[in-house]
Amino acid sequence: MNILITGGAGFIGSNFILYMLKKYPASTAGKPDYKIINLDLLTYAGNLENLEEVEDNPNYKFVKGNITDEKLVTEIIKDNKIDLIVNFAAESHVDRSILGPDAFINTNILGTYNLLKCAKNSGDIRFHHISTDEVFGSLGPDDPGFDEMTSYSPRSPYSASKAASDHLVSSFFHTYGLPTTISNCSNNYGPYHFPEKVIPLFITNLLENKKIPLYGDGMNVRDWLYVEDHCRAIDLIIHRGKIGETYCIGGNCEKTNKELTYAILELMGKGEEMIEFVKDRAGHDRRYAIDFSKIKNELGWKPEVSFEDGLKMTIEWYKNNESWWKKIKSGEYQKYYKENYEKR
Ligand code: NAD
Ligand code: DAU
Repeated sequence: MNILITGGAGFIGSNFILYMLKKYPASTAGKPDYKIINLDLLTYAGNLENLEEVEDNPNYKFVKGNITDEKLVTEIIKDNKIDLIVNFAAESHVDRSILGPDAFINTNILGTYNLLKCAKNSGDIRFHHISTDEVFGSLGPDDPGFDEMTSYSPRSPYSASKAASDHLVSSFFHTYGLPTTISNCSNNYGPYHFPEKVIPLFITNLLENKKIPLYGDGMNVRDWLYVEDHCRAIDLIIHRGKIGETYCIGGNCEKTNKELTYAILELMGKGEEMIEFVKDRAGHDRRYAIDFSKIKNELGWKPEVSFEDGLKMTIEWYKNNESWWKKIKSGEYQKYYKENYEKR
C-alpha cells in the first residue's frame, strides 16, 4: 500500500509514521510493503528530527511542500501510485488561531479541499481525514460526551476551520463518492509534542525551573489520550473503517487543567508555587469528552495506555530529549512566545 501522509513532520503525524514503519516493516516475506510519502511544509511545527530514525528506511520518503499546491499533490499521487491519503497537515494551536486565523483558513480549509480535489481527480483515492473533538464545541458539566451524532458547534477559528474541512470531506463522499473516513479525536500527548501545548510547555518549563501559566480558573476539562493509542485507532480505521463514516476517539480520561497540573508537579517533584494563574484564553471551551463506543464496538479499539503511565513516559521523554525541545524553545518560537504570552 502506498500512503501519502500529510503533516508527517508534526507531533501526531511523525508518531504515526514511526508507528506504521515499525508495525509494517520493509519487505516482510509474503506481505505487501507499506510505502510512506510524507508531504510537509515544515512550518514552525514541522520538525524532521522527529523522523531521523526512519530517514534511511527504503519505505519512507519526505517531500517538502504545501498541501494547497495542486500540481505538486497531483504529481506525488501519480509518481508514487498513491492508494491512500491520511491528512494530518494543519495549523493546530488554538491560541495562534485567535492571534491570526489566516494560516488556519488556508491550510485547514483550502489545503484539505485541494487534497480532496486531487484525490478525486486522480481516480477516487481513499482519503482519511484527521480531525478533532473541538468541532463539537463545549460541554456542560453533566453533558454526555461527544459522539458521531453530535452536531457541530465550533467556537474558535481553529475549530471552525477544522469543522469546515470535515464538512468538505463529507461532501466529497456524498457528492462524488470519494471513499473517505474522518476521525475526531480528543487531546493527545506524548513524545515530539511541540512545547506550546499545555503538557510539553509545563514539563519543559519545570525542567528549566520556570513558572507554568495556568489559564483562567484552571477548571477547564480535557480528555487526554496517549498519542500511540491514537495511532493504533487510525491504523484500524484505514484498514477496516466503513467508507463514508466518522469515528470519535477519546481517552476516557477527563481531567481539569488543575488536576493535570498537579499530576505533572508531583511527578516532577515540584511545588504549587510554580503555578502562575494568567488571563484566560478568549472563548475558552470549558469541557471536552468523547464517547468512543462506536470504534470500540465496530473495530475493537480502546485506549491502552493509562494517564499515569503515559504522563510518566512523556516526562521521561522530555528529560531524555533536552536538545530537541531546547532548540525549539531558543529559536524563532522564543520571540513569538515572548511577544504573545509572557505579557499576558
Ligand atoms: P502539529 O502542529 O504538531 O503538526 C502539523 C504539521 O502540519 C506540521 O508538521 C506542519 O509543518 C504541517 N503543515 C502545516 N501546514 C501545512 C501545509 N500547508 N502543507 C503541508 N504541511 C503543513 O499538529 P498535531 O498536533 O500533530 O496535529 C495533527 C492533526 O491532528 C491536525 O489535523 C490536528 O487538527 C489534529 N488533532 C490534533 C490533536 C492534538 O491533541 N494535537 C487532537 C485531535 C486532532
Ligand atoms: O481537543 C483536541 C485539541 O487539543 C486539538 O484539536 C488541538 O490541535 C490541540 O492543540 C489541543 O487543543 P487545546 O486547546 O485543548 O490544547 P492546549 O494544549 O493548547 O490547551 C489544553 C488546555 O490547557 C486548555 O484548556 C488551555 C489550557 N492551557 C494551555 C496552555 C498552552 C493553559 O492553562 N496554559 C497554557 O499555557
